Amino acid sequence: MAKKINFLNLGKHPITNNFLKVQNPNNEFFYNLDLIFNSETKLVSLKNFVSPKRMFNDKYAHRASASKTMRLAYSKLAKSIEKKFKPKSILEIGSNDGVFIKHFMKINNIGVEPCKNLARITNKMKIKTYDEFWNISLSKKIIKHNKFFDVIYSANTISHIHNLDETFQAVNNSLNNNGIFILEDPSLAEVLKNRSYDQFYDEHAYVFSITALKNITKKVGLQIFNIEKLKTHGGSNRVYFKKFSNDKIKISNNVSKHLKNEKQMGIHKLDVYRKFSKNVKRSKKKLVEIFRKLKKKGEPIIGYGATYKSSTVLNYCNLNHEFIDYFLDTTPTKVGKFTPGTHIPIMKYNGIPSNVRFAFLGAWNFKEEIFKKEKEFIKRGGKFISHVPYPKIL
Ligand code: TMP
Repeated sequence: MAKKINFLNLGKHPITNNFLKVQNPNNEFFYNLDLIFNSETKLVSLKNFVSPKRMFNDKYAHRASASKTMRLAYSKLAKSIEKKFKPKSILEIGSNDGVFIKHFMKINNIGVEPCKNLARITNKMKIKTYDEFWNISLSKKIIKHNKFFDVIYSANTISHIHNLDETFQAVNNSLNNNGIFILEDPSLAEVLKNRSYDQFYDEHAYVFSITALKNITKKVGLQIFNIEKLKTHGGSNRVYFKKFSNDKIKISNNVSKHLKNEKQMGIHKLDVYRKFSKNVKRSKKKLVEIFRKLKKKGEPIIGYGATYKSSTVLNYCNLNHEFIDYFLDTTPTKVGKFTPGTHIPIMKYNGIPSNVRFAFLGAWNFKEEIFKKEKEFIKRGGKFISHVPYPKIL
């Protein structure tokens, strides 16, 4: 019998995508962010899933193409898929604003994107996009019109879908016998190493280990044949699947290496999550201490990048507008609004103002890109505050 064991309670949290038009709304939605470990499948997930319609609607703010790092990563990946697999058809689950799928205009390219504002963008780009949630019924509809796919790709989406068995079954049903499925999502091993508890929020229903992915996908007939470690989104895995029945594709040695590494970390054992939980509580104490000390000295502190991840940190640590004056962000749909739960104003990024010496690195996953861009700030003594891997002024 599968046992789901609670190992960390991160308190009450809002919908991360719900950037507020007014600072103090009276009807903000909150849910309990608790983390559980399934001792049978080894899956780590949220205990309480938030209704998909609350999260993925026609006001969805995140644009995958907002970051240069991500634009380059998707363009590079598209070239590599073209070269290695020479697909004649490709389906993307969670096509966002088309940053990846637009590289496949010469073949049959189909998007699935339940956020209607985003699906409109890619449909306008002449990429046929279904503005519905991915499930078996949609997959049947798509196959009826498009036949089976050579490649199915999904980045930062499968971890958002609650019914994983149905999700993978629908993927398997939609692939050619020689087709491949590529999934890209944050890595649980990296979360444990970096104590990046902010990978858990409403949308991230799961953070996958390779161990858990193997356990779940074998039930539907999919087999992992390759894994690439990525720096994106604070440490992700790109996992390649084939059908079990397809023995033309060789299984790379790195699959067993990853599994062995996870076993050594104890990713299959509850003790590891209990230890993680202790470290997260320590991390909160230390981060709040840093903010309190700076505020006592009267230092203005701003936030850099109002990411979804930062919502978990701010709400868990109760860092509201009394600690952070405002956030700077480059995403137009976030500018002029307030952070969910903590009600911090978000301003348009036009460089860091000269009176600011401290900036909380909300977008820590883009640290390299940001440090390159903010050479001037750093040169004049400006400092970033980060909570990853432990709270520190950088
Ligand atoms: P994401 O981690 O969910 O992709 O969100 C990144 C957010 O950070 C997005 O709103 C854009 C913002 N950002 C900046 O404001 N400046 C930057 O230099 C970078 C890289 C991101």
